[in-house]
Amino acid sequence: METVVSGIRSTGNLHLGNYYGAIQNFVKMQYEYNCFFFIADLHSLTTHPTPENLHGNVKQVLVEYLAAGIDPEKATIYIQSDVPEISELYLYLNMNAYLGELERSTSFKDKVRANPENVNAGLLTYPVLMAADIIIHKATKVPVGKDQEQHLEMARTFANRFNRLYKNEYFPEAFAFNFSANLVKIPGLDGKGKMGKSEGEGNAVYLSDSPEAIRKKVMRAVTDGGPTSENQEKPVEIQNLFDIMKVVSSTETLKHFDNLYNNCQIRYGDLKKQLAEDIIIATTPIRERINDIANDVDYLRKVAGLGAEKARESAGKTIREVREIIGFRRF
Ligand code: TRP
Repeated sequence: METVVSGIRSTGNLHLGNYYGAIQNFVKMQYEYNCFFFIADLHSLTTHPTPENLHGNVKQVLVEYLAAGIDPEKATIYIQSDVPEISELYLYLNMNAYLGELERSTSFKDKVRANPENVNAGLLTYPVLMAADIIIHKATKVPVGKDQEQHLEMARTFANRFNRLYKNEYFPEAFAFNFSANLVKIPGLDGKGKMGKSEGEGNAVYLSDSPEAIRKKVMRAVTDGGPTSENQEKPVEIQNLFDIMKVVSSTETLKHFDNLYNNCQIRYGDLKKQLAEDIIIATTPIRERINDIANDVDYLRKVAGLGAEKARESAGKTIREVREIIGFRRF
């Protein structure tokens, strides 16, 4: 059976982009593959969380994984820092990762631009840690959003380089995967790029948002003055709303508003109202489970403990073999 690995950085509540880009796939894949889904708390250190919010953020992601339908009996769910073998592999891979290639990563360049005062080495080697996450379990499929494709290409580079250096075929190549078809990118509500935490207030809709909060955010989404000629191309901010609609609404609804746009009869207020209601329908069952699970600390402890045990068993096997390949020997 093929092995699957994916994770989400623990920076707090998950949004629709996390859900449609990754988690929805996790839930489908857990029945057909050997799945490892983790909470990337080591990665979160690249942006310096404080001891006051680190644990709460990890808990939030764990709770939302479970609320969204990841089954700890089917998939291995664990917290990255519970598996020290990952950090060890990261150290080995760092020896063969080059400054030039790391500096060329678009996500690194974005982070440097956004936070010039915090260009730390962990940020630079973020893709190396991500490669360690994936190849520690010898995974071949990685359900992620479109924005992670370059990171996966780097993971393949590091795996292949290790194989070449030590003249073996130890690590397989891993590829980005989406169950339904294409990798999805869920845009934000700000009329610009992807949905994300760091893109400012109101840009992201969270799985834990109340219906009122969802309506408020969607109604405030950026729009233009409306189409002026038939069948004209949609500007980014409008296309973004249609792209979100594509994942939460029915095909009839999507077609209906698409036709209205093409006939220049669209009223953005109506589109947003519909979009908000469809987001609410999609997220309500998850939101309702979030509170119950969050209060059940015994259950969370059990899930995290079992996950750590299973993940360490798999990671430990790899690390023993890697040490052997590298040439570490016992006296
Ligand atoms: N970089 C991913 C993100 O920002 C999170 C991540 C860390 C990840 N390690 C991974 C995803 C390993 C897949 C596999 O969403």
